[in-house]
Amino acid sequence: MKFLCPSETLAPNSSRGFDIDGRKLLAVRRDGIAYFYINRCPHRGIPLEWQSNQFLDSSASLIQCATHGALFLIESGECIAGPCAGESLTPLLGREDEQGLWVEL
Ligand code: FES
Repeated sequence: MKFLCPSETLAPNSSRGFDIDGRKLLAVRRDGIAYFYINRCPHRGIPLEWQSNQFLDSSASLIQCATHGALFLIESGECIAGPCAGESLTPLLGREDEQGLWVEL
């Protein structure tokens, strides 16, 4: 597992992007749980964000692709609206312990 960041640097209902060994990924915290995905929209295969660490919609309840606005469930990565509806972000196995967030690449 690769270390990502200390827990407190992923605030409640926020997201962060990472570049680890040349791979782009994102982490989102919701209801205290951290979720991890490859940072690649299934529509065009490009990164989701325009502004660094901004992966959520205005309500902070869905992951949003900045390019064409696809919306994804935070818990499963499933696209529920937009040009890739029915497709999904690629989830990554991760965990959180007293040191912080870890992810399997
Ligand atoms: S590239 Fe993400 S919605 Fe088109």
